[in-house]
Amino acid sequence: MTTGVRAQRADSPPEPDSLERLVIIGFMGAGKSTVGPMLADRLGWTFVDLDDEVAGRAGEPVHEIIRGRGLDTFRRLESEAGSAVMRRRRVVVAVGGGWPAQPGHMELLADGTLSVWLRVSPATALARIAESATRRPLLEVADPLATAESLLARRRQHYRRGDLEIDTERRTPDEVVGAILKRLTPCGGDLEREETA
Ligand code: S3P
Repeated sequence: MTTGVRAQRADSPPEPDSLERLVIIGFMGAGKSTVGPMLADRLGWTFVDLDDEVAGRAGEPVHEIIRGRGLDTFRRLESEAGSAVMRRRRVVVAVGGGWPAQPGHMELLADGTLSVWLRVSPATALARIAESATRRPLLEVADPLATAESLLARRRQHYRRGDLEIDTERRTPDEVVGAILKRLTPCGGDLEREETA
């Protein structure tokens, strides 16, 4: 069908029947891996963290792949894992912050996929990352704020291609999930009614 959710960035809600996957994009520290499982739970779908997929396939954590084998190798592994994951159905996928900026990746999001950009400022991203156990080699540099700002400036054009845009700056993960589900009406509306019933 030609009216897949990819074309619905503006106002029209996605058609729940044709929705097969949600892909969460955004900068490191946006909350993708926190919000993703919560959303999957609400939808009764499976959560897939692309970094975990890559780590599972490679047999070592992402930060070790990047440090030991280099960023280019990580990008290749990420690309391979991403292509496989984007064929799965009834999944919420959190991709790493660099995935949408790689050539051809956003084009993989076909009909049936709704992409959600979780927006975060560089400063808030760094504050959240400081509290997180996950290491981000790209930000383990002399001036993390300047690096985050310049990375985000280059990536924003790709993140912008997401169907939905959700500000996470002053929202708790629960509030972010609520904001996303609200945009998925009538599907989200039903879920919300179920919860308060
Ligand atoms: C990266 C983001 C990380 C991870 C890797 C590179 C990036 O994922 O894929 O460290 O290039 O922005 P998160 O966005 O989940 O932190």
